[in-house]
Amino acid sequence: KLMDDIMGISQLEDTIREKLNIKKVIIVPGDSDEDKSVIKDIGKCTYKYLMGILKESVIIGVTGGNTMFEFAQCLPECKKEKNVLIVPARGGLGKEVEIQSNTIAATVAKKLCGNYRLLHVPDNVGKDILESLMSEPDINKTLEYIKNVDILIFGIGRAEEMAKRRKMEEDIIEYISSKGAVGEAFGHYFNRDGQTIYQTSTIGITVEDFKKIKDAIGIAGGTKKAEAIIAISKIKKDLVLITDQGAANKILELI
Ligand code: G3H
Repeated sequence: KLMDDIMGISQLEDTIREKLNIKKVIIVPGDSDEDKSVIKDIGKCTYKYLMGILKESVIIGVTGGNTMFEFAQCLPECKKEKNVLIVPARGGLGKEVEIQSNTIAATVAKKLCGNYRLLHVPDNVGKDILESLMSEPDINKTLEYIKNVDILIFGIGRAEEMAKRRKMEEDIIEYISSKGAVGEAFGHYFNRDGQTIYQTSTIGITVEDFKKIKDAIGIAGGTKKAEAIIAISKIKKDLVLITDQGAANKILELI
């Protein structure tokens, strides 16, 4: 039975990778929508994958969210100093301090015995303020690191859920859904074709930067995230996706 399950999952991984036309797919058993502990398994798998690609002197970008939080939690405490730098992919996104990218960056850095830089940017400030923040030497330096991340580990969300979670204005939520937003990642909202239709006003990684990242690892599970995962896969063909059976089965149904 166990062998059957393993065979089944590895076949499912191949099928999903072909359907999404991306570099690699890793699937954990179960469905995060029904069983929250499946998210922890996605976290553990992400750690294992990261250990396989981690080298000296790399810059790792991380985003926020519950899946990223579980990933950070599951990392074992390091044994020896590592020459890695962890940065949040983008500045403040919403008011949830515990699962914000800054907090995750600090946790991941501590667990890996690496260094980190934070990006403190207030939410919903105007373009002028963002621009002057960007010219602050310390923020500018952090942004430079962000633009040069070697590995990005990021959560993928459902557009509508993320807009509500971030308590966006009602008219913006309506705008996003009228434009057909299905997925969200690093503060960008994407339609089914992977086109950006909206982005939160903050600084940090852009879609153009995202496309150039060598190792981008998207982590997301649950049936409800299938559409969002499909949208993100359209943007980057060398994406690595770590997901669960729930999302994978739904992707099969949709494409
Ligand atoms: O930015 C958040 C992610 O896009 C999704 O978050 O892991 O809490 O579903 P989640």
